[in-house]
Amino acid sequence: MEMKKILVATQKPFASTAVEGIRNVVEAAGHKLELLEKYAAEADLIEAVKDADALIVRSDKVSREVIAAAPSLKIVVRAGAGYDNLDLEACKAAGVIAMNTPGQNSNAVAELAIAMMIYMARTQFTPATGTEIQGRTLGIQAFGNVGRLVGAKAAALGMKVKAFDPFLTDGQIADGGAEPVHSLKELYSSCDYVSIHIPATEQTVGSIGYDLIGSMPQGATLINTARKEVIDETGLYKVLSERRDLKYAADVAPDIIDKMKADFGTRVFATPKKMGAQTAEANANAGIAAARQIADFFSKGITKYNLW
Ligand code: 3PG
Repeated sequence: MEMKKILVATQKPFASTAVEGIRNVVEAAGHKLELLEKYAAEADLIEAVKDADALIVRSDKVSREVIAAAPSLKIVVRAGAGYDNLDLEACKAAGVIAMNTPGQNSNAVAELAIAMMIYMARTQFTPATGTEIQGRTLGIQAFGNVGRLVGAKAAALGMKVKAFDPFLTDGQIADGGAEPVHSLKELYSSCDYVSIHIPATEQTVGSIGYDLIGSMPQGATLINTARKEVIDETGLYKVLSERRDLKYAADVAPDIIDKMKADFGTRVFATPKKMGAQTAEANANAGIAAARQIADFFSKGITKYNLW
């Protein structure tokens, strides 16, 4: 089979062990790996992708311009779950298969969500008196790969777990170990912690704001390891100003994080750079899965996980 050039373009690089794993898969399949790490601007990606047959990215933006600059490109794989960084219409128009690697980095994100709950409960590890999460109620917004893992871990820590997911039946949610609730309002108003696990889509962007957050019980904490875009930041700011008991922790920072930190102190926390999937294990799982999906596409025409 003809040797293909597979470009891994990551502004936030994979762990070196993951890159080695990707290289092994690519070379065993008879292809060539090229690396573009920590690049500064889209122009660098546009230059590097010119003669690529396949592209692996993380949250790197694959825009219409990137697709247009890559006449040989047949497949792009987002090594991760959320694919809001891929221009799917441009991929489809150019006949470029576009995939993600669902589930591969879920455990890392779920562990971060649990860590954030404890970090906020213990007032960001300051000497101030904190609280325990055992016995508290956790609400999971969207019971997919990450949501289920968060639920199982929280239950093991003694939390009561509820979940809302409009795409699942009560039975499916119960099978995953959570109590089903039937509206977001019910979830937010009945849980001490809510952990968000929805994708950023036209329907979800800006969908969590003043009313929902303001319906949370006394002392509640909202944890967002999904996307910053799903939060209405104006509403979040207003409700945190009015309800001095509420807390917010996120991976990654809201645009107004400096103002929020200045005004709300340890009631808010945000990672400086998205780190939910930033473990050696998650990098290897997602990166190697991406490489395998590309090898299988070229050798067997498998398009499982194509997103359009
Ligand atoms: C995902 O959607 O899989 C996560 O947000 C991970 O994104 P990252 O690969 O940019 O860390």
